[in-house]
Amino acid sequence: MTTAEIEFKKTGIPAIDEQHAQLVSYLERLLMWISKGHGFAATFDALESLSSYTRTHFEFEEQHMRDHQYPKLAAHIELHQSIISGLAGLKAELECAKDVEEDLAGMLRLWIVKHIDLEDMEYAVFLGTAQPADCG
Ligand SMILES: [Fe+2]
Repeated sequence: MTTAEIEFKKTGIPAIDEQHAQLVSYLERLLMWISKGHGFAATFDALESLSSYTRTHFEFEEQHMRDHQYPKLAAHIELHQSIISGLAGLKAELECAKDVEEDLAGMLRLWIVKHIDLEDMEYAVFLGTAQPADCG
């Protein structure tokens, strides 16, 4: 697994932090294909991998939250659903060969990294596992 270059906060829950690193590395791979203009097939393939891993990761996270009786689980599931439908929407736009790649890059980065840094960290604070920022 490649080390993610996009920074994201650590929840202190090892399985979730590892999955976030994997998720961000899929995101980086997609952004790399987009920035190099490698065209439809590579971009689509990378988006497909990211979407599929995102679904698996969200299921894991939701189960973790259920196991720990997280009071904001329902709202968190809604946020996950909106990211999943956003990814599906982008996939549909890519399939229609619309010129969405620049928007796609910005939106994905925002959705995924902001979600980890805000809502997933809120869960980590609830569990008492949140890690202090790495300033090094
Ligand atoms: Fe989440």
